[in-house]
Amino acid sequence: MKIFITGATGLLGGNLVRHLWSKGERDLRVLVRASSKTLAIDDLQVERVPGDIRDPGSLAAAVSGVEQVHHCAASISQWQGNRRQSYEINVNGTVNVMEACLKAGVKRVVYVSTVDTLGFSSRENPADENWPEHQSMARMKNPYFDSKYDAEQEAKKFLSKGLDLVIVKPTTMIGEWDVKPATGQLIIPAARGLVKVYPGDGGGSFVDALDVCEGMRLAMQKGRTGEAYILGNERGNMTYREFFAMVAGLAGKSPPWIRMPKAIALLAGYAADAAGAVFRFEAEFNSSVARIAYANHYFTSRKAIAELGMPQSGIEGAVKRAVAWFTKYGYL
Ligand SMILES: NC(=O)c1ccc[n+]([C@@H]2O[C@H](COP(=O)([O-])OP(=O)(O)OC[C@H]3O[C@@H](n4cnc5c(N)ncnc54)[C@H](OP(=O)(O)O)[C@@H]3O)[C@@H](O)[C@H]2O)c1
Repeated sequence: MKIFITGATGLLGGNLVRHLWSKGERDLRVLVRASSKTLAIDDLQVERVPGDIRDPGSLAAAVSGVEQVHHCAASISQWQGNRRQSYEINVNGTVNVMEACLKAGVKRVVYVSTVDTLGFSSRENPADENWPEHQSMARMKNPYFDSKYDAEQEAKKFLSKGLDLVIVKPTTMIGEWDVKPATGQLIIPAARGLVKVYPGDGGGSFVDALDVCEGMRLAMQKGRTGEAYILGNERGNMTYREFFAMVAGLAGKSPPWIRMPKAIALLAGYAADAAGAVFRFEAEFNSSVARIAYANHYFTSRKAIAELGMPQSGIEGAVKRAVAWFTKYGYL
């Protein structure tokens, strides 16, 4: 069984390749860009195909003879200056991958969307796959949220063309092999004890990246065609204050203690927007991120647990493994 994985040099894809390998899968093919840092897959004997999801020509060769595809690749940048690139990679790139899969007769595709397509919720009433609040996310004017929402709509159009597609929506993943880093951008400063402020009651939903990988493997095996599955953790809903305190505590540092007023965070975000636009740098903290930090992004994975048997490992274990990995590879 040949399995093709996009985004294999990233946090999710790297862990997925390693997870499938640990489950005995040996016929694995991955897409690698000329610029990719390949640390996450360097010790595995997987077939590497050069390409870019924006280049349909490279994808035709990549999916030839493949039975299953996990499409993880995306731009996760939340900076307005990258809006065009977010659409080119997330929307056009996804269409290219789906088209290539359809043409090559791939048996099944698992497409990685995100819970950020769904909308804000509350801890008492976390969002599920049918949550009707998408507009609350759309109002954030965030290029990542917007492009991933549109990408999912485009991917779903391939169902009527005959593509066997299952959609997964991970929450915020914590794990090793976060080479860029992705969510390491939250963990590294907290583990260094540098996060002193917290954003009021804002909170999110965290999950062990390895649980997501197993959820994807199970979705490929027994997910229902056309269905979406939130891949999170029922005990992973926490305020950002709780999350940063947990990371700092596990790394032996002090927790954040200053409650940052929203108005000040927004001012700092707008200043970062302006500085990024003038000096042409990627402002990772910006006005959209500031607004999002004060919202509640809580989700339930009841459906994935019931239908797929998605595991629910503790978040602390994932944070400990991530901190150990960042330390070993010199990020900390
Ligand atoms: N991180 C989270 O907590 C989270 C939560 C929910 C959903 N997701 C979704 O999970 C997926 C993976 O995210 P991640 O956190 O693993 O991100 P990541 O660490 O930034 O990895 C992104 C991957 O996509 C690849 N990629 C980007 N642009 C590409 C292009 N034009 N052609 C081919 N490959 C390209 C990157 O390759 P290079 O190494 O060459 O850059 C990298 O392998 C994404 O679809 C994201 O939306 C992530």
